[in-house]
Amino acid sequence: MEDEEQLCEAARNGDTDKVRALIESGADVSYFDGHGLSPLMHAAKHGHADAVKCLLEAGAPWNALSPSNLSAGDFAMDSGHQEAFDVLLNAGIQAELILGTIARRSNPSDDTNGDYLEDRITFSEDKLMDSNSKAIMMAWEKPLMEAHAKAVCSGGKHILNIGFGMGLVDNAIQQYAPIKHTIVEAHPEVYGRMLRSGWGEKENVEIIFGRWQDVLPQLESYDGVFFDTYGEYYEDMREFHQHLPSLLKPGGIYSFFNGLCGGNAFFHVVYCQLVSLELESLGYSTQLIPLPVKDCLGEEVWKGVKHKYWQLDTYYLPVCQSIQDSE
Ligand SMILES: C[S@@+](CC[C@H](N)C(=O)[O-])C[C@H]1O[C@@H](n2cnc3c(N)ncnc32)[C@H](O)[C@@H]1O
Repeated sequence: MEDEEQLCEAARNGDTDKVRALIESGADVSYFDGHGLSPLMHAAKHGHADAVKCLLEAGAPWNALSPSNLSAGDFAMDSGHQEAFDVLLNAGIQAELILGTIARRSNPSDDTNGDYLEDRITFSEDKLMDSNSKAIMMAWEKPLMEAHAKAVCSGGKHILNIGFGMGLVDNAIQQYAPIKHTIVEAHPEVYGRMLRSGWGEKENVEIIFGRWQDVLPQLESYDGVFFDTYGEYYEDMREFHQHLPSLLKPGGIYSFFNGLCGGNAFFHVVYCQLVSLELESLGYSTQLIPLPVKDCLGEEVWKGVKHKYWQLDTYYLPVCQSIQDSE
């Protein structure tokens, strides 16, 4: 049997000494067997945390995917192996903190934001699409947007929303009768549609046309802030977070669309943790409220949509507030 096949077997059996010996004699830790599984996946699936550690230390890629799009972390999670899961989660967080291999580069539109903003877009009743048939916003998110609006409106009456899209969150925010509701939108066609549908005439609404990056000097401090853009990188959201201390009043609530790595359950957990850590370093605590979404997401929802940006059964709605306020 080849060394790599033996490595898979040793990983499956939790024989860490043999795993170590095979690695030392040059067995390739990035190998995939005939089923498309790596030694790390075998170790994770069977809950052998020591073997998982040993393989990671030898450079086994924590984020490799099986043919059914599962990572080693998914295998540990699905089989209920907490210790192996924790080792993989830490490895994922450390790697993403340093390299940002997944979400930092996986732009939903594969374009830069600049390209998206010059792109023609299509509006229909249940979705807003870009010219590559990728969904910018979809109606199935309505209950999520209502929950986000409820969260950000619970801190007071001055609200900021970044990204109008289909206006779902803004319609929900209006239900809470804010004193001032500021909306930042950068796409000319979305902006035009907002004006045509009367948003420019609402007394408590202020629309600021432009990229949030460019209009920051026009923004004030708010009781509630919501962030949901399109065609941007995780880095852009991180940059936005740097401005929270001036955008959010004491006692204010911040939330964002949490679609981070929405195609893989384990990567999503990694990114939920990562964003919470990053917000914590800025002085904010993050509560993730689980909302089941399976029922509003049948296959038919994605008909004609190129990229299925959400594939998980539970949505974790982030509610962030200053650590001082939450104590
Ligand atoms: C996913 S949609 C927002 C959906 C919205 N939350 C809703 O409830 O319908 C994203 C919106 O952000 C806008 N956008 C993208 N980049 C932006 C930026 N840098 N500044 C402001 N708006 C931006 C897009 O044009 C789009 O209208």
